[in-house]
Amino acid sequence: MAQPQQRPAQGVVRFYNFLPEGRSFLDEVLTGLARPHKALPPKYFYDARGCDLFEQICESPEYYPTRTELAIMSEHAAAMASFLGPDCQLIEFGSGSSRKTRLLLEQLQPPLYVPIDIAGEALHAAAAGLAQLFPWLNINGVCADYTKPLTLPVFVGVPIRKKAVYFPGSTIGNFTPQEAIEFLQLARRMVGAGGALLIGVDLKKDKSLLDAAYDDAAGVTAAFNLNLLARINRELGGDFQLRRFRHHAFYDENKGWIEMHLESLASQFVHVGGERFHFRQGETILTEISCKYSVDEFRAVAQRGGFAPGETWTDAANLFSVHGMIAT
Ligand code: AVI
Repeated sequence: MAQPQQRPAQGVVRFYNFLPEGRSFLDEVLTGLARPHKALPPKYFYDARGCDLFEQICESPEYYPTRTELAIMSEHAAAMASFLGPDCQLIEFGSGSSRKTRLLLEQLQPPLYVPIDIAGEALHAAAAGLAQLFPWLNINGVCADYTKPLTLPVFVGVPIRKKAVYFPGSTIGNFTPQEAIEFLQLARRMVGAGGALLIGVDLKKDKSLLDAAYDDAAGVTAAFNLNLLARINRELGGDFQLRRFRHHAFYDENKGWIEMHLESLASQFVHVGGERFHFRQGETILTEISCKYSVDEFRAVAQRGGFAPGETWTDAANLFSVHGMIAT
């Protein structure tokens, strides 16, 4: 375990809101639906209902990543904390509600923890839970879109030797490899030279396992995907009829990624924000990709993003990997 300095008995919890006012959800939906191949950004899955459905996906028997990454963390959290080192400011991309984060915080005991999430409610709820569990923890919750450049607020009076980004859950897979490189370059700028990255990355495996993980028998992933249309209806005054769309997800072995689509079951028009969009029968909206990497493929991506490979932890069945890396 990293050797922390004496911590205050009572940590301080602060929140910062860096979300732009107003139009970005509407703008991104209108732009995405106007494209020749319709597409919507997956970050908009996560309203309150979407967060709840995602939790259910993580519990489903087919979706192995969450429980596998958790098992890796349970076994190796102490080694990961040593890799990151003492007095390390921990920046998490995501709200940090998971047991994985708790395992890491327990071992690392960072002087400052900075969860960044676009979902304000989830961020507040997760921070409240962590403050109760770790009363000594200083938390700077930042409500922001972490896929965009961001200057973090500075928290004075705590010893910081280096910064580390924690990015669990293989959310990096929701970027194309080129986008992942650009995203890691942002993270690299955030932590500075000598800073660290601890990142969960789903591994390539048999297509049948992957197809099932993104189309579970109970239909939770389908509900999660369709909830995006319900959110557009509710928040942007859209008129999607959910029963006229279906969830379609598959692993494309050539591309090395899952594609998740919403397929129109009929020729139809849909209105959003005063615009009218036509859907052909069978036409789809691409709502998410989820890239799968070999360990070496991901190391190559990270190197182009400005991080040198350090240690990699995997499970015995080689389903999932967690990489510790150092900013070059
Ligand atoms: C958040 N992200 C890593 C999940 C994934 O596996 O790509 C989102 C998800 N989509 C459907 N199931 C889970």
